[in-house]
Amino acid sequence: MQQPPGPKGNPIYGNLEAFEDDRLGFLQECAKEYGDIVRFSDRVYIINHPEHVRDILARTGKDFVIASDLFARRVAEADTSAWMQHRHLITTHTKRSHLADFAPSIANLTKRTLDEIGDGISFDVLATMEQITSGAITEYVFGNEGISIPESAARLLDALLVMIGNPFVVPPWVPTPTNLRIRRRKQDMEKVLLDIIESRKAKPEQDLLSILVTADWPFGRPSNEQLAGVLIGMLLAGHRVPAAALTWIWFLLDGHGDYESRLHNEVDGIFAEPSPQSDLLQKLTYTQALVKEALRLYPPTWLMESEVLNPVELGGYHLPKGLKLLFSPFIIHRDPRFYPEAETFKPERWLNPVADEPNPNHAYFPFGGGPRLCLGTNFAIVELMVVTATIARKYMIRVKNPQVELDCRATLLPKHLKAQLKPRFASLSADYI
Ligand code: HEM
Repeated sequence: MQQPPGPKGNPIYGNLEAFEDDRLGFLQECAKEYGDIVRFSDRVYIINHPEHVRDILARTGKDFVIASDLFARRVAEADTSAWMQHRHLITTHTKRSHLADFAPSIANLTKRTLDEIGDGISFDVLATMEQITSGAITEYVFGNEGISIPESAARLLDALLVMIGNPFVVPPWVPTPTNLRIRRRKQDMEKVLLDIIESRKAKPEQDLLSILVTADWPFGRPSNEQLAGVLIGMLLAGHRVPAAALTWIWFLLDGHGDYESRLHNEVDGIFAEPSPQSDLLQKLTYTQALVKEALRLYPPTWLMESEVLNPVELGGYHLPKGLKLLFSPFIIHRDPRFYPEAETFKPERWLNPVADEPNPNHAYFPFGGGPRLCLGTNFAIVELMVVTATIARKYMIRVKNPQVELDCRATLLPKHLKAQLKPRFASLSADYI
């Protein structure tokens, strides 16, 4: 059976050592040297063409299984069909129109967090953005009741970090110290959630949890444990990844004064006049373009993984059952076949309606795609726009160490990015957005 071309690698470790030494560099080199389908080993191929990625994502659950399924199962322990029902219910409640009502909460959280830092004080950008995103997802899911949750979510996330984005990990049932730690922390978090679920049944409110608890479930009501699993999945996914995206936005803006000025002009013009929140979001067109472009150049979920369930043909090759497929939005988003000046930060490429559609090539997928598209896509876009606009209205973020390294062990991050706040105006009213 003919296999695709690929680097030979070391006689003992194959390509694993080179991959671990420089993950992004290795994948970039493979795409350049060997093309759209690359053999990493007999059990792993790398996919570098967006049409193939689209095929794989579209057939998830039928011919392929995604790695985040394993992740979801590890935290939710729900089977896929139960998860698909939960997904459906959550999706109907995370439409952009519903989210516009939540935008003021995100803006307030952002203001509080930044105003606490104080001008000129050095701060860790990721940790600060994470404070905002973990607060926002907690409030969205639990209303005001989830105050103590980010800490247990952060502890679980830290334990899980070694496996997220790492395609070569030990399966969850093997009792390694890491797997045991994950299990313990998950149990801790579950305990907190089970109490909240029980109390919410007696007293529903206006948040996502109340919607889940009081919904009519066409295929049977999930158990409290299953619900807790879904909530853990939402909290974890809605925490570090959007914070990473925001961190990249500040990193990029600091080096591009012209784009920063355009952002300031947009937010100053819009927020000078009071208008309904839903209109505000629609008017933030440049902010949205900037967010999309940051997600193109630095997609936080930079590596995805899928496994062949049923033998299939792809790009002229036979893919046997059990074969792992790796594909990276970081690589494909920077492919000059699909983006002119692919390595350049150019938010305006998203302002022109024609350029706004690289999707004929399916070459833009920071949120994945197909039936398992990121459940938080709408939430994340609204969140990134509102946080960016709120901060830009009052502050400039000045990076102190722009020569940072890329960290791609799990979520793609600029390593230890530090910054200072610089107020844009001598005084701005407390109600500045
Ligand atoms: C910039 C922010 C975000 C990015 C780039 C992102 C990206 C992704 C990607 C690529 C996947 C699919 C992973 C795969 O196929 O292997 C995914 C799944 C998921 N995301 Fe997000 N995400 C973001 C924010 C969020 C937020 C805010 C939430 C929660 C509100 C969320 C909830 C989820 C969930 C629950 C899944 C699993 C869906 C499933 O397996 O059916 N994400 N995300």
